[in-house]
Amino acid sequence: MKQITSLKEMSQHSRKIKDRGQSIGFVPTMGTLHEGHLSLIDAAKKKCDVVIISIFINPLQFSQSEDLKKYPRNLKKDKNTLKSFDPIILFTPSEKDLLPHNSSAVVDVEGLSKKLCGKSRPGHFRGVATIITKLFNIIRPDHVFLGEKDFQQQIIIKKLVKDLNYNIEVTSVKTLREYDGLAFSSRNTYFNERERKAAPILYKTLLRAKEAIEAGERDPRRLHYIMAQHVGREPIAKIDYVGLCDPSTLDDVKTIKGDILLAVAAHIGHTRLIDNMVVHAK
Ligand code: PAF
Repeated sequence: MKQITSLKEMSQHSRKIKDRGQSIGFVPTMGTLHEGHLSLIDAAKKKCDVVIISIFINPLQFSQSEDLKKYPRNLKKDKNTLKSFDPIILFTPSEKDLLPHNSSAVVDVEGLSKKLCGKSRPGHFRGVATIITKLFNIIRPDHVFLGEKDFQQQIIIKKLVKDLNYNIEVTSVKTLREYDGLAFSSRNTYFNERERKAAPILYKTLLRAKEAIEAGERDPRRLHYIMAQHVGREPIAKIDYVGLCDPSTLDDVKTIKGDILLAVAAHIGHTRLIDNMVVHAK
């Protein structure tokens, strides 16, 4: 496995790959790789000649009150995991190179970034969009692979690609779940036993709403109530939001028809979790 840390070397290496006529698949991550990340690498390997995975814990997407300092860091273990995917290129830029102190340009995908998680995490998606733009400019991928669990992030990056005229195809990959429905996430490593037991409440809430829609419930306010109530069944879960949205605009739906994004965010102990599911209502 080839590991590159220098921005210049990464750009030059990417150019060489392209000059050979090979396609580049890119998997951006913040490390602490789990099954969800591995499914993105699998998808990239199937579609592209060369796969580049980045590991960079992006300070721009954490607010002051958030968990940047204690965000899990496991580079040694991650490198071990990646061995089974060789050949693969691991890009691990340093913070001082990628975000020098005097850098002030930002990328903001307006509108979409203010909804759902954007309300309780102001600036988060600007941080994501800025770092992703920088990584795109350095790597120049043909394809980027993103998880559907972070549904909002994924559609924001799709919009960024379109609006900034990147010639990149965005592939979203289905959410992978643990045995009890909890979506794989690096933050799952924070849980104690009690919290881990409580965490699947998010997925169960999505399933409860899906069930209700399938049973004919067509009132968004009633569905909203059903979801909020369901999160409340878990005493240690603190709800941030539940939503029934248009999956392309993230606006609240007024009628339950066609594709609907069911979204939930809640704190389990000190850990904030999100989950999403798109359902189809006839
Ligand atoms: O999903 C993540 O891990 C991050 O938000 C990303 C896309 C790597 C940007 O830092």
